[in-house]
Amino acid sequence: MQGIQLGMIRKVLVCSPRFPRLCSSSKINKQVFHGYACLPRLWCSIASTTALPNSPSSFSTSTTTRKHSEALIYNKHGEPSHVIRMESQELPELGEFGVRVKMLAAPVNPSDINMVQGTYAILPELPAVGGNEGVGEVLEVGNKVTSLSPGDWVIPADAGLGTWRTEAVYNEKTLTKVPHDIPLVCAATLSVNPFTAYRMLHDFETLQPGDTVIQNAANSAVGQAVIQLGTALGIRTVNVVRDRPDFQMLEDRLISIGADYVVTEETLRKPEMKDLFKKIPRPRLALNCVGGKSSIELLRHLQRGGTMVTYGGMSKQPLTVPVSALIFNDIKLRGFWMTQWKKDQPHDSSQLNEMISRLCDLFRAKKLSAPLHTEVPFKEFKIALEASMKPFVSCKQILKM
Ligand SMILES: NC(=O)c1ccc[n+]([C@@H]2O[C@H](COP(=O)([O-])OP(=O)(O)OC[C@H]3O[C@@H](n4cnc5c(N)ncnc54)[C@H](OP(=O)(O)O)[C@@H]3O)[C@@H](O)[C@H]2O)c1
Repeated sequence: MQGIQLGMIRKVLVCSPRFPRLCSSSKINKQVFHGYACLPRLWCSIASTTALPNSPSSFSTSTTTRKHSEALIYNKHGEPSHVIRMESQELPELGEFGVRVKMLAAPVNPSDINMVQGTYAILPELPAVGGNEGVGEVLEVGNKVTSLSPGDWVIPADAGLGTWRTEAVYNEKTLTKVPHDIPLVCAATLSVNPFTAYRMLHDFETLQPGDTVIQNAANSAVGQAVIQLGTALGIRTVNVVRDRPDFQMLEDRLISIGADYVVTEETLRKPEMKDLFKKIPRPRLALNCVGGKSSIELLRHLQRGGTMVTYGGMSKQPLTVPVSALIFNDIKLRGFWMTQWKKDQPHDSSQLNEMISRLCDLFRAKKLSAPLHTEVPFKEFKIALEASMKPFVSCKQILKM
């Protein structure tokens, strides 16, 4: 579906979880999800220089080693499919506070790619193991470990852990326990995108049921989580995506997970958007993943005093703010970085625990799901890396170890 059409602004009644009786249930959702082509995509880079304290390479320096792990390692920065290779690593001794973890699944996120390229805001010492997110099962714990036991599922507490490997010994403090009664792929993709969506919906504006949130890159993993969490909170979402030949399929898919309105970037600039905001309140919150022109359009639709939170820069274009947005509409411009939020939390943060608990409840209630994804066997990592860097796909690549 090409061009600009009023039909691109569609009120959703058919398949929104908010109208369960009108929704044709999981059958339709499955068809929409499985029928959606998993093509690749492209992302932007964020410059940086800081070294990570917890360099994964430190795991290979022990002289007394017992076990081995297969790991995706890079010795220099560059294009991931060129610089990453699979290597066998010796695991260090467990030590008093060590936790031996068998990694089960780990996604390939834009920030992982940017880290390998050397363009992310934090960079590990080289050589490094790739991957910042994932879920593993605890196999063994050191004698002073108190918070974890064999059989527990764990996710990284922070960025830079190096999750693209079959096994590792991590310090207890670098891990967060998660329930293992949620789907594996949900656990593997929990700690970056749903966390980000949750925080942005809770920490910037006090949203009430019936309020509107507008977001660009709505088909990203973060965007999909915003749609589902918004629906669970009774918040309307206006979801902006780039136009594409299969727009209708994408629109249907976002609607099936709860999107209220799906519009293209082109439609966002059209007068018909005014008609939409006669029917629903103007957004109090805009979530900007793209930058450039796209973000200016988000700003234009915010209600007076509203907030735009920038969390990504996929277009690699700067944010140019019309002075009128500040003078006449008193718009607030904020930024969000999950890594910093986690760093600012104490180890056993009640806010973190509450967020995990609420998100897991939503997984169990099937109100929140993992983003559309492809599971790729660990050994075929190059396919996953390449697929994750192509444009116009909303399909997360998840490595299965
Ligand atoms: N600040 C934080 O704490 C935080 C946390 C999580 C994620 N992020 C950032 O959020 C972004 C999305 O992450 P994700 O894992 O959700 O990504 P994802 O699932 O890989 O999706 C990428 C999204 O970016 C869009 N996109 C790609 N290139 C674009 C371009 N040139 N112009 C406009 N849109 C473009 C894609 O749309 P198409 O389908 O049209 O290609 C897609 O919607 C990344 O930049 C990531 O680093 C930030």
